[in-house]
Amino acid sequence: MSFEEQKQLDEAYVMPTFARKQVCFVEGEGMRLRDDAGKEYLDFLSGIGVCCLGHCHPKVVGAIEAQAKRLIHVSNYYYIEHRGEVAAMLSNMLNGWRGEDASGAWQTFFANSGAEANECAMKLARVWSKRFSHGGNIIITLEGSFHGRTMETIAATAQSVKQELFTPLPEGFIHVPLNDIDALQAAFEKHPQQVCAIMLEPIQGESGVHPCTQEFIRVCEQLAHSNGALLIADEVQTGICRTGRPFAFQHFGVQPDIVAIAKGVAGGFPMGACAAREEVAAAFQPGDHGSTFGGSNLAMAAAHATLHALQDEHIVQNVVEVGAYLEEHLAQLPHVTEVRGLGLMLGAELDEAIAPDVVAAGLEAGLVLNAPKPTTLRFLPPLICTKEDVDELIEKLTGILS
Ligand SMILES: Cc1ncc(COP(=O)(O)O)c(C=O)c1O
Repeated sequence: MSFEEQKQLDEAYVMPTFARKQVCFVEGEGMRLRDDAGKEYLDFLSGIGVCCLGHCHPKVVGAIEAQAKRLIHVSNYYYIEHRGEVAAMLSNMLNGWRGEDASGAWQTFFANSGAEANECAMKLARVWSKRFSHGGNIIITLEGSFHGRTMETIAATAQSVKQELFTPLPEGFIHVPLNDIDALQAAFEKHPQQVCAIMLEPIQGESGVHPCTQEFIRVCEQLAHSNGALLIADEVQTGICRTGRPFAFQHFGVQPDIVAIAKGVAGGFPMGACAAREEVAAAFQPGDHGSTFGGSNLAMAAAHATLHALQDEHIVQNVVEVGAYLEEHLAQLPHVTEVRGLGLMLGAELDEAIAPDVVAAGLEAGLVLNAPKPTTLRFLPPLICTKEDVDELIEKLTGILS
């Protein structure tokens, strides 16, 4: 079927929730994508931070292929191969790959997306508060945040533009400005014994790559704990080695109680996960939460292969080295006034609202780029990105921006 025919069918039968780029990718390998006309692209978005090992990594493909031939799905009524092993690997990563002795075990609930991982995190925080603390139900989130598209995660997402059309939204949320310690303290003072959690992204992704300051995130941890509440890290975008550590909170010297995970965790296969320290996870009892598809045989096989490959192929080291190289070279580009972020999650701020034009010109030139805001370019390449890939990106971007 031609591109035009695909496009017509899409426009006739698919809901118009995305403004699509004029391309249909049909193949991928590593950092490269190919469209239906055979044109090649260098991918600096990786399916919005998902394909962490690059496109069609042989170990992930092999695991999915082999599992699909044996068993695809049976449900959470039963034990599932690799599920405990994947949860143990996540626990180990959440302890910084320092082994379980580091700070106790984490337990994971398996879901299918980032929004679902956050839904579980928020439900667990409220259950934990009712069963183990003062019973408060308010969740504090940060302005500019993004936590998903379900009703509850929109209520958590402190951006009025994402909320307005969907009111009435679920109650029980307070929003404070990012990195505003006074506002956070005031929120706790105004609602004593009513807050069950602070939920934050260590680096806000969708708002254009805006990090929490170290001081702010430490105050979040301290205020949450001194007020009988939990700290939830939404690591859907920042987790799974994206920032040069297994999880971004590990850069900040804090210990969250619950961590929401998705995107890269199964190398491109849809999967979400909500991990909690075991004494927090103990608040859940059978029947409190669930999912038909979450943690399926196929998802577990993909995650098992992905997490092994991330460790075996020393991906974190690559992210640190290539991330620093990318940051340095982005900062030297024309129009770039600031580069924010960590590892291979970087945002370049431009002096004019030309980011969407740069994305369009990039596509023409064989680059997959992203502009979360008119003045911001965001870079979320596969974590296997090399310095040579960065050189190619910078050469093309220099041409576009000059
Ligand atoms: C920080 C964060 N949380 C949650 C989500 C929602 O994830 P999903 O689209 O998989 O539901 C995203 C998606 O970009 C995200 O960046």
